[in-house]
Amino acid sequence: MTSLPIPNRQPGTPRPLGVAAIGYAFMGQAHSNAWRTVANHFDVPAFEQRVLVGRHAEAVATAAKKYGWSETATDWREVIARDDIDIVDICAPGWLHAEIATAALAAGKHVLVEKPLANSLAESESMVRAAQAARALGVRSMVGFNYRRIPALTLARRLIADGRLGTIRQVRASYLQDWLADEESPMTWRLRKETAGSGALGDIASHAVDQVQYLLGDTVTEVSGRLHTFVTERPGPDGPEPVTVDDAAWATLSLAGGAVASVDVSRVALGQKNALRVEVYGTTGSLTFNLENPNELYFLNGTEPIEVQGFRRILVTEPEHPYISGWWPQGHVIGWEHSFTHQIRDFLLNIQSGTDPSPSFEEGMGVQHVLAAIEASSAAGGATVAIPALIPLSKD
Ligand SMILES: NC(=O)c1ccc[n+]([C@@H]2O[C@H](COP(=O)([O-])OP(=O)(O)OC[C@H]3O[C@@H](n4cnc5c(N)ncnc54)[C@H](O)[C@@H]3O)[C@@H](O)[C@H]2O)c1
Repeated sequence: MTSLPIPNRQPGTPRPLGVAAIGYAFMGQAHSNAWRTVANHFDVPAFEQRVLVGRHAEAVATAAKKYGWSETATDWREVIARDDIDIVDICAPGWLHAEIATAALAAGKHVLVEKPLANSLAESESMVRAAQAARALGVRSMVGFNYRRIPALTLARRLIADGRLGTIRQVRASYLQDWLADEESPMTWRLRKETAGSGALGDIASHAVDQVQYLLGDTVTEVSGRLHTFVTERPGPDGPEPVTVDDAAWATLSLAGGAVASVDVSRVALGQKNALRVEVYGTTGSLTFNLENPNELYFLNGTEPIEVQGFRRILVTEPEHPYISGWWPQGHVIGWEHSFTHQIRDFLLNIQSGTDPSPSFEEGMGVQHVLAAIEASSAAGGATVAIPALIPLSKD
C-alpha cells in the first residue's frame, strides 16, 4: 500500500488539522467538550472542529451549534473522503466501528475510536490490519479507554511500575451501574447482540479488563467467567423484545507475570451509579481507587512500621501529578470529563510527534480476546479458557 494519502499533520504546515466527529449523543458530546477545551489547557497542534456527523440533519445541526463544530453531514463516507479532514473521531455505536475505522484509515485519516474496539474478534482483526497498514505510512490510531487518563489511575500505574507495591499478587476491578435495574427500561441498541456485541461485558468489563492490563503493564493469559441476564425482555417500540446480551459479568483472570485478578461488572447493581473501583495488592504496598471520587488514590506503604501503617489518601491535584499542571491550582478538583480532554491531548501530541498512541488497536484487540474468552468460559459452565498469544497480524 503505497498510495495512502498522508494527512496534513505536521506542526507548522499551512492549515490546522481538520477534525470530524461521528456521533453526537453521549460520547459525541463528551468528545466535543474535550475538543473544545483541550487547547485552553494544553499545548497541542492547531486543529479545527470542522464537521460533526449524524444521521438526522436537523438534530446534528443543533448539536454542532452547541458543541462548536463548523459544519455538519449525514453521511460519514463523504466526510472521510474530504481532503480537509485529517482526524476522524468515532463516537458511534460498536457495530459501526470496524466499517468506519477501516475506511478512514485507508483514506489516510488518523482515527480515534471509542471502546470497545469492535463487536467481534473478526472485526477487531480487520481494524488492527488497517491500523498496521496505515501506521507504516505515518497514520495514527487509538482506542478510547479514557480511564487510563484519569490522573489518579495514571499515577497508580506509575507507582506500580516504580515498584512501590513490590510484586503484584492480586487485583480487584469492579464496574457497577444501575441504569438497567428498572425492568421497564426500554430496549436500546445496547441490549441487542447484533448491535452491541455483548452487554455489560463489552460496555464496562472492557474498561475493567483494560485497567487490569494497563495498571500492571501485563497481559491476561487465561480466564474463567460467567455472564447473566436478569431481565430477559424489555419494552420495545412494538411491544416486548428479548434482551440478547448480559446484564452482568464475572471473571477471574490470570496474568502472565503471575498476578491474579477478579473482574465483576453490572448494569443492574441498584444504587451504584458509575462505580469503577480498582484495588491492587502487592508484596509491599496496596492501592485503591473509586471513580466516584476520581481525584483520590489511596496508598498503603507496607514497608512502614506496622503501628503507623494505613491507607493514605493522595489528593491527585498537585502540578507534579499526571496532567494536572494543565488545570487549576492544587486542590481545585477535576472530574470524569477531563479524562477525554487528556485523551485528545495525547492523541494530538502523538500525531504531532509522529509516534504511536496507546491504547493502540492491538491493545484494544487484546481486551477483545479477554472478553471473548469470558464469553466462551461462561458458555462452557465457567471452564478455564486460555487467551491465544497475540501474533502480530502484519508487519509494520
Ligand atoms: N469511554 C466511555 O466511557 C464510554 C461511555 C459510553 C459509551 N462509550 C462508547 O461510545 C460509543 C457510542 O456510545 P454512546 O453512548 O455515545 O451511544 P449513543 O447511542 O448515545 O450515541 C450514538 C451516536 O451514534 C450516531 N450514529 C448511529 N449510527 C450512525 C451512522 N450510521 N452515522 C453517523 N452517526 C451514527 C447516533 O446518531 C448517535 O449520535 C460506543 O462504542 C460506546 O461503547 C464509551
